[in-house]
Amino acid sequence: PDTARPTQGDDGGRPKDYIEAAVRQALVKAFGEAGAAAAPMVTAATKPEFGDYQCNAAMALAKPLNAKPRDIAQQLIDALEVADLCDPPDIAGPGFINLRLKPEYIQSRITAMLEDESRLAIAKTTAPQRIVVDFSSPNIAKEMHVGHLRSTIIGDTLCRVLEFQGHDVLRLNHVGDWGTQFGMLITYLKEEVPQALADGDGGEGSITAGEVDIGDLVEFYKKAKERFDGDASFKERSRAEVVRLQAGDPDVLRAWRLLCDLSRREFQVIYDILGVKLEERGESFYNSMLGGVIEELREGGLLQESEGAQVVFIEGAKNRDDSAQALIVQKTDGGYMYSTTDLAAVKQRATQERADRVLYVTDSGQASHFDQVFQVARRSGLAPPSLQLQHVPFGLVQGEDGKKFKTRSGDTVKLKDLLDEAVRIAAEDMEKRLAEEGRGMGEEERAVARKVGLGAVKYADLSMNRESNYRFSYAKMLSLQGNTAPYMMYAYARIQGIRRRATTSTPISTSDPPRIVLEHPAELTLARTLLRLPEVLTELERDLYPNRLCEYLFDLSQRFNQFYEGCPVNAAATDELRASRVALCSVTAATIKLSLGLLGIDVVEKL
Ligand code: ARG
Repeated sequence: PDTARPTQGDDGGRPKDYIEAAVRQALVKAFGEAGAAAAPMVTAATKPEFGDYQCNAAMALAKPLNAKPRDIAQQLIDALEVADLCDPPDIAGPGFINLRLKPEYIQSRITAMLEDESRLAIAKTTAPQRIVVDFSSPNIAKEMHVGHLRSTIIGDTLCRVLEFQGHDVLRLNHVGDWGTQFGMLITYLKEEVPQALADGDGGEGSITAGEVDIGDLVEFYKKAKERFDGDASFKERSRAEVVRLQAGDPDVLRAWRLLCDLSRREFQVIYDILGVKLEERGESFYNSMLGGVIEELREGGLLQESEGAQVVFIEGAKNRDDSAQALIVQKTDGGYMYSTTDLAAVKQRATQERADRVLYVTDSGQASHFDQVFQVARRSGLAPPSLQLQHVPFGLVQGEDGKKFKTRSGDTVKLKDLLDEAVRIAAEDMEKRLAEEGRGMGEEERAVARKVGLGAVKYADLSMNRESNYRFSYAKMLSLQGNTAPYMMYAYARIQGIRRRATTSTPISTSDPPRIVLEHPAELTLARTLLRLPEVLTELERDLYPNRLCEYLFDLSQRFNQFYEGCPVNAAATDELRASRVALCSVTAATIKLSLGLLGIDVVEKL
């Protein structure tokens, strides 16, 4: 018996899962062992004429059963119990089974969605996992750049979707807050800005001291690096500071903490603007575990010495020159590596956090780092076999010309400036539109423009396949046409307007909830599209491509437009029909709001 199968009629809004479970049962019932071994192969129908789903299991069974696929399909249908959800299935072509959702089922789902606008009656997963999402993760005293922005935006959306699905998500900011660069920074701080350290705990007052503005840490970093590169004795003193830092010298730790605090404040500005919440757990958190990791690798027989360093040789991958790949875990001087910290983090997440799945959202440039870390974690047992480790790579952010993303003067773009600029342009666009209507910008309009500007930056990033490089264009992302945030936000506000007009002009006096009428083809198509959201989320949970949700939203907005063209709402022939169409508007609006919310984007009621 398949326990995964939901009880009859209660599919939690996931008809595809329900049908898949039913196919599994039918396969066993009809074909015994051969059926049990077969995959149900249920997918969305490739064309609306074929219904909502198709099952392709019959083709794969032709060989093992030595029978014609069409006959197998017929036997499968005879054993299949989906009458609650679907019209009687039919066979097409060589043996595809087409499944069409029953209008009554669609009506009942729309009604359930109408009554639960916040979750749209989508059930939480029956198999909740503990999922760590490691994202954003800028480096202390270095610039938080557009790559970190992408990680922040994509990571936040993945968290929101996984949380919505009912998983227990731990959002971790694996900031680079440890390493040899701190020797240089601390030495420079001590020698150039001793006041900063004398002033107590590194509060507001101590940010600027004398000539050096350590409030601008990036600038500070540059100056320290210049000194470091040009002054051998400074270099020596820096090395000594690293040793003291690692030994836990209280004065050095205080300097380190000051630097971390200053960076943290700058990062937090960006997180606040974006509305992203995450817990800082930087590299330093794992310091005390690094020695243990080396020991475990040694005990497991994985550790080898290579040119004085401790390494683990990687299996199944070679360097370009055909030499063996080695993951360095401890340098000749005893220092640990980025990879050592990641190995320790894998173990800590597996054991202390009891994670079932860990996602690492970074640029694709780190793909081989994670391949290597995951392999070593597996072979050494630092990661148990049940733990799923996934790198979620993304491409580069480029300028409109396809080159490196820079300001007009050729400098790197500060994230705060980038976000401010998007908001500024959104406000400017809005001001122009309002001026045409003889209106001006008030407080409320500014707040709206802010949401549009920030939404545009997020949506532009999320609507791209994350693995492609992405060209940053204010004009494109802020356009009211195409698959953009302003377009989707506008679609939402427009539907809200339609709803308001349709319900205030003449109040509707029909049953509550209204009976959903799906007679016009555009009504039916819209309703079927509305039913697809849970599937899109399930796929997103598995494959981690937020652009699928954006594509769905764009498709939904097109279906809505067709519906609105073909089916008058306010001027519907009967009150009953009007109520039904208003309900379709409401569910569409709620679907857009929920989906944009999962993308970290706020809707506005009027635009
Ligand atoms: N700090 C790194 C960077 O800026 C990203 C860290 C990603 N997470 C990890 N566990 N390695 O590239």
